[in-house]
Amino acid sequence: MFNQKHLELFNNQQTPFYYYNLELLQNTILAIQKAAPKSYHIHYALKANAHPTLLKPILAAGFGADCVSGNEVKRAVECGFKSENIVFAGVGKSDREINYALEQNIFCFNVESMHELKIINELAGNKGTKAGIALRINPNVDAYTHKYITTGLEENKFGINPYEFDAVLELLKELPNLNFLGLHFHIGSQIQDLTAFKNLCVRVNEINKWFAQKGFLSKNINVGGGLGINYREPDTQAIVDFEAYFKVFQSFLELMPEQQLHFELGRCIIAQCGSLISRVLYIKEGINTNFAILDAGMTELIRPALYQAYHKIENISQLNSVANKKYDVVGPICESSDCFGKAVELPLTQRGDLIAIRSAGAYGEVMSNRYNLRDAVESLFTGSLS
Ligand code: LLP
Repeated sequence: MFNQKHLELFNNQQTPFYYYNLELLQNTILAIQKAAPKSYHIHYALKANAHPTLLKPILAAGFGADCVSGNEVKRAVECGFKSENIVFAGVGKSDREINYALEQNIFCFNVESMHELKIINELAGNKGTKAGIALRINPNVDAYTHKYITTGLEENKFGINPYEFDAVLELLKELPNLNFLGLHFHIGSQIQDLTAFKNLCVRVNEINKWFAQKGFLSKNINVGGGLGINYREPDTQAIVDFEAYFKVFQSFLELMPEQQLHFELGRCIIAQCGSLISRVLYIKEGINTNFAILDAGMTELIRPALYQAYHKIENISQLNSVANKKYDVVGPICESSDCFGKAVELPLTQRGDLIAIRSAGAYGEVMSNRYNLRDAVESLFTGSLS
């Protein structure tokens, strides 16, 4: 994917930095629009990457915003998302965040516990308004992904469990400041086996019917996000097979008349558009292990350290050389977990070479931190550079 033009551009840039390919973002958005039936509502999960420059084409495509904090709601509002297209989830919404979202008159709070229902009812009452709410359900469906990003099992803190359903309905009847809009689900992230989404559909059908039979018809069904990407081959499959994904819901979800279907996609929209670009500071030759020490670390991309995640690593200063040497590619942070990849095959690598750590567009920049008092990092955006 990288060529001589990238190299010239990157050589003038202070490293490390995040590089975003806006052309790929646009093509990914178009692929979603082509694959999703017109009636589907797509919300972009800002938690994956909330940079205003990236939000622009997403907004222009007509997608809504899925937020998990007051500041994400604020970012969405400031970037022009209409309040009726903003949803707000999260197990621990503070009073301040709830009040702000009420003032913005957002479409829906995805509520994660009975206690939260009571508090939103109270805060809406104080403002003399009504809050639109969906119940976030914990469906106990395995996403078959890393345990840190599994959210739909009973052992996870997220959502309302089926054994609470009767009590929730009783409670809802007593809370006058809530407007019941539907049901919300999200079982996890980086889900590559579509079977997990089929299993989700089966559970959604059961739960949806149960609520309808009790007199609570859900106008909206939100199945969350979670569609995974190919970290190993970011160029051969830069855009996920959205058709196969949406087909699962078309085939397995039994929506009732008038029910609207919502999605909250993050990673699969933005991950492949971004790379973390870094320079080699030092080479340390060892007996068993050679180290390539970069000027980027786990402070700029924490996924390998936190989830043992694989990210493809390329030496873009040696585009035409054969990868014939193994390096542990590490950062400068004082932690042994500050390692982007072990025994990575690269061409002979030297001080000053530019290294790209791929698929860093999602959960890269947003999860960066200033540990070791590191400098904040800039971003670089391009359109077509082919
Ligand atoms: N909706 C809800 C309620 C969520 O919690 C999430 C992600 C999404 C939607 C979007 O999921 P996506 O389509 O991006 O998979 N930091 C982790 C990922 C955490 C995901 C948290 N929730 C990582 O780097 O893998």
